[in-house]
Amino acid sequence: MDLGLAGKRALVTGSTAGIGAATVRELAAEGARVAVHGRNAERAEAIAADIRAAGGEAILALGDLSTRDGCNAVIAAVEAAFGGLDILVNNAGGSENPSRTWADVEWEDFLENFELNTGSAFRLIKHFLPGMKAQKWGRIIQFSSTGATMPAAHTEPSYNAVKASLITLTTSLSKTVARHGITVNCVTPGAVDTPVYRKFVTNLPPFQDKPIEEINRTLAKRWAIPAGHLGEPEDLAPAVAFLCSGQADWITGVNLRIDGGMSYFINT
Ligand SMILES: NC(=O)c1ccc[n+]([C@@H]2O[C@H](COP(=O)([O-])OP(=O)(O)OC[C@H]3O[C@@H](n4cnc5c(N)ncnc54)[C@H](OP(=O)(O)O)[C@@H]3O)[C@@H](O)[C@H]2O)c1
Repeated sequence: MDLGLAGKRALVTGSTAGIGAATVRELAAEGARVAVHGRNAERAEAIAADIRAAGGEAILALGDLSTRDGCNAVIAAVEAAFGGLDILVNNAGGSENPSRTWADVEWEDFLENFELNTGSAFRLIKHFLPGMKAQKWGRIIQFSSTGATMPAAHTEPSYNAVKASLITLTTSLSKTVARHGITVNCVTPGAVDTPVYRKFVTNLPPFQDKPIEEINRTLAKRWAIPAGHLGEPEDLAPAVAFLCSGQADWITGVNLRIDGGMSYFINT
């Protein structure tokens, strides 16, 4: 199926690793002109070089998205290279310390998570939306988490709350801009084996000396993932590309769970 993405200008935040890296590679393979983003220039350049070697077009847009200056640096790099965007994937996020609980989380942690996860999405949307409206076409995707919809005692409360705000933001914006040919959707991953996931699980006391394969098998059982295993970044990237496609014109305001069936409620 031709997704109609050839020549579209796409920024995937947090695309130097994990789900973002798989997504930026997928969009580039579909012919999109992509901006690879992260704080780490070396990793960003390695991914951009791979994309170019495969015949694609990739630029770098570096910056710490937990700050206003960092967001502005990313915006400036994208504007200089592309003069606007057709596709904005707000994937960068996470938490500096996902093991925090109510006992040790502080208000400052909440604000820090809000700046990175929701603040960056808000700032980038505010900047790129007018251009999408003017061209009457755009795709905006946020990344939430099953922590937002099924918060558990062992996961960080501020991360869960902040990720929930991204689903609400998605719904509200989707209704506002649908008549301009812009779709706004959210992707909610379950447990996906990425660097941030590994940082989290390998610090949990029972797992500190265990190989990652054993940890993943144990957690897939404990979390009762119906598919029987954790996800890989490549399990999510094609779905993101489809949401960006011309075929997905009428799909907006959706919160798409990609979690191997782990969510135990019906999506409303
Ligand atoms: N993996 C999971 O199980 C899971 C589950 C639910 C939700 N999610 C969500 O899915 C998204 C992707 O997660 P992932 O697991 O793929 O993460 P990951 O592998 O840790 O990658 C995170 C990416 O975000 C970038 N990043 C992190 N902090 C940043 C900052 N302050 N400024 C700019 N860039 C920053 C990193 O780039 P640099 O290191 O180059 O800065 C990296 O490219 C996140 O929003 C996460 O919350 C993941």
